[in-house]
Amino acid sequence: TLPIRIAPSILAADFAKLGQEVHEVTQAGADWIHLDVMDGHFVPNISYGPDVIKALRRHSTAFFDCHLMITPADPYLEAFAKAGCDGITVHAESGPHLHRSLQTIRALGKKVGVTLNPATPLSVLENVLEDIDLILIMSVNPGFGGQKFIPAMVEKIRAAKALIASRPIELEVDGGITPETIGAVAAAGANVFVAGSAVFQGGSVEAYRERISALRTV
Ligand code: DX5
Ligand code: ZN
Repeated sequence: TLPIRIAPSILAADFAKLGQEVHEVTQAGADWIHLDVMDGHFVPNISYGPDVIKALRRHSTAFFDCHLMITPADPYLEAFAKAGCDGITVHAESGPHLHRSLQTIRALGKKVGVTLNPATPLSVLENVLEDIDLILIMSVNPGFGGQKFIPAMVEKIRAAKALIASRPIELEVDGGITPETIGAVAAAGANVFVAGSAVFQGGSVEAYRERISALRTV
């Protein structure tokens, strides 16, 4: 069984001092850094791209978990790989050729992830299970931090865990994860927990350490 990983999303960090934020949250015990890339097209918000990630790379040695909410994704995969992402996750809804996107990420030498919007059924994964290292279940509609967890996603996580069976695939959940909601998703089988607003509400390394610990008590 794979380890519990807390993955703070820097979408909720102070963008005016992003390097420092990434450094401090790493010092505070973050296992992964979750990087939300939004294009204003696939999702109704714009965040940051590969040059920002490249600049952040020297501020942390943690695993860079890149969540691409962009369409098309394929023309940009190499740029995100070169920027220093360790894993690249694409949405199953982001294009007609999911398998091609996954093969491209694999060829770039990065961990391969697929993410599903709340309304997208797990069946889209059935024919790519041997090609992926990570499944990301969205527990909010992507685009914004600070939204409310969708309770129906607990059952979806349980079903995803069953689909994974004994394969070494990370099961990640993203959206509305707090000390109140994390217990149910952990019990359902998720092992990677994205948290934006529950970690970054301003503060210091000490505050980040406390908020990360509060999530880890699952
Ligand atoms: C939403 C992003 C999430 C977001 C989570 O589109 O994919 O990673 O930052 O934020 P919280 O934890 O505040 O729901
Ligand atoms: Zn995300």
